[in-house]
Amino acid sequence: MELYIDTASLDEIKQAHDMGVLDGVTTNPSLIAKEKVPYAKRLAEICEVVKGPVSAEVIATDYEGMLKEGREHAKIAPNIVIKLPSTLDGLRACKTFSEEGKKTNLTLCFQPMQAMLVAKAGAFLVSPFIGRLDDVSEDGMDLIHRIRTIYDNYGYKTKVLAASIRHPKHMVDCALAGADVATVPFAVIKQLLSHPLTDSGLKKFVEDYRKAFG
Ligand code: G3P
Repeated sequence: MELYIDTASLDEIKQAHDMGVLDGVTTNPSLIAKEKVPYAKRLAEICEVVKGPVSAEVIATDYEGMLKEGREHAKIAPNIVIKLPSTLDGLRACKTFSEEGKKTNLTLCFQPMQAMLVAKAGAFLVSPFIGRLDDVSEDGMDLIHRIRTIYDNYGYKTKVLAASIRHPKHMVDCALAGADVATVPFAVIKQLLSHPLTDSGLKKFVEDYRKAFG
């Protein structure tokens, strides 16, 4: 499974990149708002560090506006993926961009038919939001299973990018469900390496060695 980081923080992106585990980056308007830097500037900085796909979301909600913003984003670097909402206008923009050979990530996907339609419109990635479905007492992971089955049944090439991941169990379940990519906050990436037996085992190895050899 590919691993993307879900952040607009350059520091977090650099740290994850240095761990050697990073395949790409997703950003969104809420994440860039926390950074208080111009979106285009931060995207250019991110693309200097990460050569894999970097998702840049449009703020516009109408077709023409999405085309304008998406084309501006795409000028920043060749690895920019234009992130669009899974709406009627988003689908139209997705079709136009895919005809132009530009990659798209269709976001805010909460039900399987949104995922099927965005695949038909030529999306490179679809982003089902697991955590936000769990938040409203739906089963986010069930959405990943359903999309995987539909895509496999019909051979759709769009990659399933599991988003809104909140904890390591989401990651395990995504990998078991066959998600192609998971996009994960840096705090959760760090949690993936954490186990109390790793910590206590490491402490004991160091103590035993020091007792014997000083
Ligand atoms: O980037 C989209 C998605 O991962 C957002 O996650 O935690 O805001 O629901 P969250």
